[in-house]
Amino acid sequence: MDTTFPRRRLGKTDLFVSPVALGCWPIAGMTSLNVNDEDSLATLAACPEAGINFLDTAYCYGADGESERLIGRALGRRRDEFVIATKGGIHWNPDGTRGVDGSPARLKRECEASLRRLGTDRVDLLYLHAPDPQVPVAESAGALRELLEEGKARAIGVSNFDVDQLNRFHAVCPITAHQPPYNMLQRGIEADVLPWCRTHDVSTVIYWPLMKGLLAGKLARDHVFAEGDGRAKYPMFQGAEWQKNQDFVDDLRQIATAAGCTVAQLVVRWTIDQPGIASALCGAKRARQIEETAGAMQVVFSVETRSAIDAALRRRGTAVTKAAV
Ligand SMILES: NC(=O)c1ccc[n+]([C@@H]2O[C@H](COP(=O)([O-])OP(=O)(O)OC[C@H]3O[C@@H](n4cnc5c(N)ncnc54)[C@H](OP(=O)(O)O)[C@@H]3O)[C@@H](O)[C@H]2O)c1
Repeated sequence: MDTTFPRRRLGKTDLFVSPVALGCWPIAGMTSLNVNDEDSLATLAACPEAGINFLDTAYCYGADGESERLIGRALGRRRDEFVIATKGGIHWNPDGTRGVDGSPARLKRECEASLRRLGTDRVDLLYLHAPDPQVPVAESAGALRELLEEGKARAIGVSNFDVDQLNRFHAVCPITAHQPPYNMLQRGIEADVLPWCRTHDVSTVIYWPLMKGLLAGKLARDHVFAEGDGRAKYPMFQGAEWQKNQDFVDDLRQIATAAGCTVAQLVVRWTIDQPGIASALCGAKRARQIEETAGAMQVVFSVETRSAIDAALRRRGTAVTKAAV
């Protein structure tokens, strides 16, 4: 194993991943606009030098698996240098609405299609993207267990699960990783889901560490989202909540300046230092963004920086509440 960059073990497997992973939703043009294949391939190409070996995608990242296809194109013969995670169980309907289907037949079909798009014979970590209310969790788990036994997946994960669903899935198929939302402002998993994962040796791989760019500190207070930018619908980008979040980011900016890092690096370092967090999925649509964010892996906090962050969090009033996904 390359020891130049930090690596963390996923569950009980022999998969070792970077604490900062590339979240591959934005490269398919899903978070904001102005994304083209050239930029996306450059973003993927920047990962090894930035110390990232962990890529997170899903069938529904893009209208029809574009993110997976880009990863397949970008990796080529370097595939074995990466731990590739993808997800099945969520798709886009022809009318543009989102569909959830965790039926065994669908999960197996989607896995085969993902393998083709990624240009590989196995997914390192295959997640059920979300529980399907119409399909018992144990049935979805049974299908993923079969894919594990067939060697099409090296490990199985779940995403957006509560403790009851985790228990029911784990009874049928061993879970290696859980993928919930988590960041400085959304800490709901600390109440029960994160402790469950720590008790069961399940790695927590979190999404939205930068809250879609809000915590990267580069969206101005008067920022107006372009039409079609998916972020405008989230309450934390609106009204009084937005202003409070901007006050918080102003606090973080001062702390980051004193600590000699950027706001994004400060936020991601804090996140990957939280007990039980194995890796943070950091979305990026440009190489320079992931290069900056990956720099968090080199940041070391002083005692003063830590207490300044704690004080800023107390001022913002981030109670341990359920995440507003
Ligand atoms: N399991 C699930 O249900 C689920 C749900 C959501 C996400 N995810 C995973 O988690 C990943 C992360 O979520 P996300 O991509 O939505 O959001 P994110 O990582 O919280 O934010 C990504 C956005 O932040 C901005 N950004 C990133 N680095 C930056 C930097 N250094 N400086 C300035 N801005 C920066 C970019 O915004 P601009 O576009 O404005 O440049 C980028 O599009 C996804 O890619 C996906 O892999 C999983």
